[in-house]
Amino acid sequence: MQSNVALKLDPAARLHVGIIMDGNGRWATRRGLSRLRGHEAGVEAIRRVVEAAPDQGVGTLTLYAFSSDNWRRPKAEVTALMGLLRFYLANEVAALVRNGVRLTVIGRRDRLPDGIASAITRAEAATSSGTTLHLRIAIDYSARDAILNAAARAGAVGQLSRESFADLITGEAGLRDVDLIIRTSGEKRLSDFLLWEGAYAELHFTDRMWPEFDGDALADALAAFHRRERRFGGLTAIAPAEVPNL
Ligand code: IPE
Ligand code: IPE
Ligand code: MG
Repeated sequence: MQSNVALKLDPAARLHVGIIMDGNGRWATRRGLSRLRGHEAGVEAIRRVVEAAPDQGVGTLTLYAFSSDNWRRPKAEVTALMGLLRFYLANEVAALVRNGVRLTVIGRRDRLPDGIASAITRAEAATSSGTTLHLRIAIDYSARDAILNAAARAGAVGQLSRESFADLITGEAGLRDVDLIIRTSGEKRLSDFLLWEGAYAELHFTDRMWPEFDGDALADALAAFHRRERRFGGLTAIAPAEVPNL
């Protein structure tokens, strides 16, 4: 049995929650605002949730910020989203360090506008010793591409265990499988998010738009999660601390 201190120091011993942060555009247009205002309000929601997550037993939080399919959006919206990302990286790092949050970014970096990839590298380095929360932001991310790229790299290795293949997909050793995937805005699909890591994830859909999401909404989702019975193919319920990885 691990002590509370050990649990606090090891994000992998706590829940991994993934969030598909959807509905920024609809939230804004329903209020007569531009879609960009919706994305700005979405950044506020990210702040609230990152702050609330550690006290709710969440050790790893993966946020879907920009999918590889989002390049299909009008150029002006893509530019605005990249501008917001640049702003977040420039202004949020100090608060992340203060709160013990380790930031990593998943997804492709070679198609991002100039300067963003290096800002990501700097933010990751600056926050690397955080143990309160592992925050993963998915940008230019496609789960199918992540699996495909891992398969291409695995080809050279020959026979691979699930664990080593998972490490190739996630880009890190021993990442906890995602326990709960939340999607806001009423849509009920995964849109190419965490397809491998979410093999046994519980799914929680809420009609709330992402800019309306907060710590209480996260608590509601987690309360519903804790009422679920996770069986992993067996016949008895498995508690989060006993979840078999892979
Ligand atoms: C989610 O909100 C943010 C991104 C996908 C970047 P949307 O922009 O998808 O908002 P809706 O779905 O159009 O309302
Ligand atoms: C998924 O939302 C991607 C993010 C939230 C970043 P979308 O709004 O792009 O998904 P679809 O197009 O409705 O499936
Ligand atoms: Mg959407």
